[in-house]
Amino acid sequence: MSATVSDKLLAWYDSHARALPWRSTPGAPAPDPYRVWLSEVMLQQTTVAAVAPYFEKFTRTWPTVEALAAAPDDDVMAAWAGLGYYSRARNLVKCAKEVAAQGGFPDTEAELRKLPGLGAYTAAAVAAIAFGKRAVVVDANVERVVSRLFAIREPLPASRPAIRAATDTITPERRAGDFAQAMMDLGATICTARDARCLLCPLNADCRARAEGDPLELPVKAKK
Ligand code: ADE
Repeated sequence: MSATVSDKLLAWYDSHARALPWRSTPGAPAPDPYRVWLSEVMLQQTTVAAVAPYFEKFTRTWPTVEALAAAPDDDVMAAWAGLGYYSRARNLVKCAKEVAAQGGFPDTEAELRKLPGLGAYTAAAVAAIAFGKRAVVVDANVERVVSRLFAIREPLPASRPAIRAATDTITPERRAGDFAQAMMDLGATICTARDARCLLCPLNADCRARAEGDPLELPVKAKK
């Protein structure tokens, strides 16, 4: 039987995953939910390179969600300065207090979604990466990779339901967190907005946009 898309992607991730401060090594026990949550909130609208030093500083100063919940709000806001989108920091403080009061992070996507600042993406990412749950994780990188892989030509944002459905069909039962992060790494390093380095891509044989000859044309964005 030929390997599935997720088999190929996970095999690629096992040797090519970016070493990022909030990750465990691929296949290793899941990282602390606090670190996963904190990194995913910081990574909303901010690049990996910009987030890394802030993540290190936060986890050094407040190693647990209880420590963060007990910190003076002004200290957290000051530590956030420079990351931008300050509503994220205000929600971070609120969420930490709620989680500490509950005795820890809930482990399902539906419960995570109820916490302050956790949208569909963040709830799915934390459920998959920290708790090993099968969740369909779609960020901008995943949108691009999946649009190309399935040659989805409908413009964004109308194509979002089709992209989600297509992502669902390739998300594995096991290692959904590694799968999601592998899709993000593929989108950040190989299947980028400006470049489609198809010769290096573990999914090149499965990619419809490549077969159709125009991966760089996808995803199509609706005219403003
Ligand atoms: N962007 C958002 N979350 C990420 C993650 N866990 N790994 C890499 N890039 C990301």
